[in-house]
Amino acid sequence: MSTVAYLNPTLPTSERVADLVARMTLPEKVGQMMQLSAQHGVRGLIEDVHVGSILHTSPERIIEAGAVVKDTRLGIPLLVGEDCIHGHSFWEGAEIYPTQLGLAASFDPDLLERVARATAVEVAATGVHWTFSPVLCIARDLRWGRVSETFGEDPYLLGELGAAMVEGYQGDGLADPDAVLATSKHFAGYSETQGGRDASEADISRRKLRSWYLPAFERVARAGSATFMLGYQATDGVPITVNDWLLNDVLRDEWDYRGTLITDWDNVGNLVREQRLYPDYVTASAAAVNAGNDMIMTTPQFFEGAQEAVRQGLLSEERIDQAVSRILTLKFDLGLFENPRLPDEDRQREVIACTAHRDLGLEASRRSLVLLENDGLLPLATDRPATIAVVGPNADDAQTQLGDWAGSSGQADWLRQGQPREMITTVLDGLRSIAPEGSQVHHTRGAEIITTGPDPKGDFFSDGQPRPHIAFPVDPNPEQIAEAVEAAQGADAVVAVVGDRIELVGEGRSTATLELLGGQQALLEALMGTGTPVIVVVLASKPHVLPACVDQAAAVIWAANPGMAGGRAIAELIFGAIEPSGRLPLSWPRHVGQQPTFYNQIAAQHGYQYADLTQEPQWVFGEGLSYSSVEYSDLTVAASALTATEVVRATVTVTNTGERPVLETVQGYVRDNVTSATWADRELKAFTHVALEPGESATVALEVPASACSIVTAAGDRVVEPGEFTLLVGPSSKLGSLLEAPFTIGG
Ligand code: NOJ
Repeated sequence: MSTVAYLNPTLPTSERVADLVARMTLPEKVGQMMQLSAQHGVRGLIEDVHVGSILHTSPERIIEAGAVVKDTRLGIPLLVGEDCIHGHSFWEGAEIYPTQLGLAASFDPDLLERVARATAVEVAATGVHWTFSPVLCIARDLRWGRVSETFGEDPYLLGELGAAMVEGYQGDGLADPDAVLATSKHFAGYSETQGGRDASEADISRRKLRSWYLPAFERVARAGSATFMLGYQATDGVPITVNDWLLNDVLRDEWDYRGTLITDWDNVGNLVREQRLYPDYVTASAAAVNAGNDMIMTTPQFFEGAQEAVRQGLLSEERIDQAVSRILTLKFDLGLFENPRLPDEDRQREVIACTAHRDLGLEASRRSLVLLENDGLLPLATDRPATIAVVGPNADDAQTQLGDWAGSSGQADWLRQGQPREMITTVLDGLRSIAPEGSQVHHTRGAEIITTGPDPKGDFFSDGQPRPHIAFPVDPNPEQIAEAVEAAQGADAVVAVVGDRIELVGEGRSTATLELLGGQQALLEALMGTGTPVIVVVLASKPHVLPACVDQAAAVIWAANPGMAGGRAIAELIFGAIEPSGRLPLSWPRHVGQQPTFYNQIAAQHGYQYADLTQEPQWVFGEGLSYSSVEYSDLTVAASALTATEVVRATVTVTNTGERPVLETVQGYVRDNVTSATWADRELKAFTHVALEPGESATVALEVPASACSIVTAAGDRVVEPGEFTLLVGPSSKLGSLLEAPFTIGG
């Protein structure tokens, strides 16, 4: 056993941390608080800057970093971080699942926990210890480029699914060799954009934060999320990086959060550059650390800045020690001093895209699909061959199907070609393999979406991140359309796969419109004109405004970047090999000008209607069809007069009245009938699933703690206001579909 305390694994973590901190020089401590991008090499980061963590590190560089760190004075292992947000995103050959938004359509915390666990198992085998997931931003303005990274628009769903992913990533605790650190992000309010534009000022009140934006973060803080990442936004003039109220009063004091805080990319630089709160890196570094940030992502100037701040008395070494201690605690708890968890090739061969993970990928893809319309054409018959025309730019685009933060989406420079084509089943591949024997499956693109070109503003943002190319929608191509029409005319059905592309998705890539760009609308119009039934598959990162001609479609399916197995799952759904079960985690608008369209908006006298358009969304939160019909009856609340510490226990009878099996998502909403401040008409408070065979009925139980029937008062306090409430239960958030039962909560 080592006589050096910090190297002695039998000692408690706190003693080891204290011993190590006492041995560290100021430059070593400041370096320990830094996470730098390894895209340009690792040796200098470790030897010259003493970094505590690296990100965006190619597989080769992870191995190199492990070797370099061993020869340093104190041999402090690195934390290697990466955005492994729907699978091990940038590991060639890893299983890529649907995006977070796609997973959210399952409304299934257990599935998400299993996806996060499987991701962690793959990630841990490759020497990465820390994933920057889950995202708990609420999606409200759908023009925002990062909607696909979210769980949608409902705070309760966000919290439940986020906590499930945290538990999946962190497994049985950090000592678990397959655990990776979760990061709950982006704390808090980042998605409250101006006009949907990414990373703009978040114009949001404290009450609004407490009402909708914070609950999911509180949920994951309590679920033990090891780290939180602070977003890019400023609120009420205060960048989150220095927001004492959110970081200290709320997160640390109210929620008692003991985890580690990491900035987003160059937030400290942003304080100097765009936000211009500080004249230099010395004062900005001091302010960020004093406000509570522990690890500083990709601000190289922090190294000199923070040391100088200590010398000038702007920053105490005690506060630095606290931040360093938090980071070292993670390293000790992960056991990195005994086993730095370097890449393990044997383990990689065993777990990366192993059969269990491939099966899980297919299960997740199936559960992510939402059937929005069906005139009865689906499922297609399987007892005879069919001629299918598969058209559209996304029918056979393997990398687009994976969405953002995967393969060639642009953030990693070592996987530009994307994930292996043979691992990805496109819709065309899926239909070819699933269609009944003797079928003919013809493919033609029919339309392009965009071309791209360099942004005249330059190749890089001022924070050093590459500036994405900008998109130029292309004109419809009459020849391409004519070819598609010809294919459609000879077919029994058309499967038209339309949507968006990676260049229209992600950070800095918000869209001004939500329409199907390029030649896609003209293509759909021409296809509808053929008289052949058209199944529209919207393979898109986020909800879109569909053209009027889609009213004539036989069916509409939404596949939110459904992962490697997505095309197979879509084909299975079309041919009825599976039952559609996904539900919308966010509402779909009819027009971009309706933004926002989330279901739990506060009602006002005239807000339900524009002069030229309804405010009703096209499809609303919670909606989604199955191939069967389902009836809800007999909603009963066991005890209808409760105290604030009791639980509303309800049952409802759910009956499959159709001819196919169904996996129904039973949704429970609560209305507080009279409130002291304006509030949403109803909010999701419980959901569960029930599988029913044709003709089968089940009594389904839902529970809502009375403590969850709260509102945020005008003064900003979350309270349960005694009085009358209504429980609403049914298949979606749509009022007409919900049964109602009254209950009261006493003082
Ligand atoms: C910036 C993004 O906002 C954040 O979500 C991500 O984790 C970091 N970059 C690291 O890639």
